[in-house]
Amino acid sequence: MISNRCKNIEPSEIRKIFNMATKDSINLGIGEPDFDTPQHIVEGAKKALDEGKTHYTPNNGIPELREAISHKLKIDNNLDVDANNIITTCGASEALMLSLMTLVNKGDEVLISNPGFVSYNSLTQLCEGNIIPMKLDEKFNIDIEEVKNSITNKTKCIMLNSPANPTGKVMDKSEIKAICDIAEDNNIIIISDEIYEKIIYDKKHYSPMEFTDNCILINGFSKSHAMTGWRIGYIGINENLNKKYDLIENMTKIHQYGFACATSFAQYGALEALTGSQNCVNEMLNEFRRRRDLMVNGLKNTFKLTVPDGAFYVFPNVEEYDNGMEISQKLIENNILCVPGIAFGSGGENYVRFSYATKYEDIEKALEIINNLFE
Ligand SMILES: Cc1ncc(COP(=O)(O)O)c(C=O)c1O
Repeated sequence: MISNRCKNIEPSEIRKIFNMATKDSINLGIGEPDFDTPQHIVEGAKKALDEGKTHYTPNNGIPELREAISHKLKIDNNLDVDANNIITTCGASEALMLSLMTLVNKGDEVLISNPGFVSYNSLTQLCEGNIIPMKLDEKFNIDIEEVKNSITNKTKCIMLNSPANPTGKVMDKSEIKAICDIAEDNNIIIISDEIYEKIIYDKKHYSPMEFTDNCILINGFSKSHAMTGWRIGYIGINENLNKKYDLIENMTKIHQYGFACATSFAQYGALEALTGSQNCVNEMLNEFRRRRDLMVNGLKNTFKLTVPDGAFYVFPNVEEYDNGMEISQKLIENNILCVPGIAFGSGGENYVRFSYATKYEDIEKALEIINNLFE
């Protein structure tokens, strides 16, 4: 009964791990901010509910939100993206799906970093595309020469994710530019997942769209404003790319039939998130930085690790003890929930992902347990 398309993808390894949790577990596996959504955003959505804004919105989102996103892209990223070239989606997740479904035919190749965020591979498989892994070096850099060599006449897209899940790596300007050049030279589209843009410590964020038109920009509110359950994300593209392929119109077809629109009152909350004070974003960032430092200092004498520049994950190499799966199981048996790196692709086999989207005191307790286990 079940389609091959569905049978061919696996449930996320992360879910299996969480089924092993007990009530005493300290959760370093979680992929979402532990903070409440800031109150002014909640009020924005409540007001919309009280005003009866509970109906379908235009497919691509309320014009006010698309205008605010367009403004954000100008102010934060110096990009010119017209509000008409923005689609408000049900999270960045839908934006990823729309992008791949709109572009990928059976047998088309999609370059995806290995390790990389779990959805990229599965969504590509759902679209019957072929995954071409981009290996990362021990500092989580993409090998540009290898990317060049892996381009064929079937290559359709390159997925980029900076800051990255699970590595916390923020790509340098030169690295992004080099990939943009490859995209331009070979008529490939970069799908740029920028969902962790606001959670970045010492470096600067660059969108590939600053260097090439061949870019679909994906972002959202889940991580920046602690709004994971609101399910609001977006796609932005520039006018040149849209003119070339009618991308927005084509994506809108899938969005319309699959989703109709993003939740009406959640869109008003997102509008408040963009137009209200950004102090909340900075406060969360400061707390994430404090926890990152705690985590890095607590783990660096036990495991080999690269200090993460962004997102809220540390991804240490644990191979001096065992592979990532064995180490994760040992940790989970000792009430520390974490994710084996293999969940993010074969390149993560010797790694474990620890999230620090968890209370500072819990991270302190977890570090004590971890360091006692691996003395
Ligand atoms: C890299 C990356 N992209 C996209 C998403 C999904 O975000 P959203 O909640 O907006 O669907 C996540 C969530 O963990 C993520 O880590």
